[in-house]
Amino acid sequence: MSEGVQSSPAFTPRVFSGIQPSGGLTLGNYLGAMKRFAEMQNHGFETLYCMVDMHAITVWQDPDALRRQTRELAAGYLASGIDPSRSILFKQSQVAEHAQLAWVFNCVARMGWMKRMTQWKDKAGKNQENASLGLFAYPALMAADILVYHATHVPVGEDQKQHLELTRDIATKFNHDFGQEFFPITEPVIEGAATRVMSLRDGSKKMSKSDPSDASRINMTDNADAIAQKIRKAKTDPDALPSEAKGLDDRPEARNLVNIYAALSGQSVDDVLREVGGKPFSEFKPMLSDLAVDKLSPISSEMARLMRQPDEIDAILSDGAERARLIAAPILKRTYEIVGMTG
Ligand code: AMP
Ligand code: TRP
Repeated sequence: MSEGVQSSPAFTPRVFSGIQPSGGLTLGNYLGAMKRFAEMQNHGFETLYCMVDMHAITVWQDPDALRRQTRELAAGYLASGIDPSRSILFKQSQVAEHAQLAWVFNCVARMGWMKRMTQWKDKAGKNQENASLGLFAYPALMAADILVYHATHVPVGEDQKQHLELTRDIATKFNHDFGQEFFPITEPVIEGAATRVMSLRDGSKKMSKSDPSDASRINMTDNADAIAQKIRKAKTDPDALPSEAKGLDDRPEARNLVNIYAALSGQSVDDVLREVGGKPFSEFKPMLSDLAVDKLSPISSEMARLMRQPDEIDAILSDGAERARLIAAPILKRTYEIVGMTG
């Protein structure tokens, strides 16, 4: 966690984040989320990481596919370095306190706040009348995920910033309405060179598992040939790479590939450009693809190994759910007392 990150002083630092098991993990998920989740285990904070299956079902999921994708996501977390002895790794639906606190938050949050969420607008599109009620309430459940643990820090990619602001709004309104500083005002942790990895085909669009073109993304399960081919075909401009970061202005595709290189190699963008400035893409792309294969192939082979051991995965997740419940239950109990439903 960076020096600049502040936490609400009354709360012990605790890290929470989640990913939807909605199928397929991309390089964006790895660099923007999982790699950073693993790094946060090394800072001495308690870390909880979750598969948010209740968020996934806000849009249709085939039941068998959801089961498989949830295990695959667990395998992705473990293969990316989440250590179940140092982090609590679990499935959202196994800890009922998330849904219970979400209901309270549905009664704290306002319709107008939800209507302003860009994810709601994007996902519901023109057909809002036909979108699920769960999709609309999605951010209140997300706030519950975080606040049921009194989590103080939430590492995510750039696209989740607005949802985390809403989490802060819900905590602030709850604390204000009930006259006590019960929930922390959570800090988003959006850091590093890869907070927004872009499509390989269009530097103005986020790399996403839902893009119809498979060539637009690197999947965490892609083999070396697929990775090399996608990078070779990635859109670029005709110029050589600049030697300084400001030379990437107005060059979104070049910026994206440099950011990916920086994040994969653990260097700053400036360091990368000192090394590769002046090189044409025909030289830089093979460097990038060697690096990507080098970093991703051990992860994809470990994922494949774990997927052959579903019992091992399920045992880790049950243990995680039990440990998560030990933290969540007293916080939910206290919430019910504050609201006047018990006590
Ligand atoms: P999702 O797959 O939408 O559940 O996202 C899981 C996590 O990955 C969130 O923290 C996202 O912000 C992050 N993420 C997803 N796509 C990208 C991307 N293209 N660049 C950076 N982070 C991403
Ligand atoms: N909305 C997040 C996404 O799509 C997933 C998520 C759900 C999450 N609950 C969370 C992320 C709590 C961080 C903290 O990426």
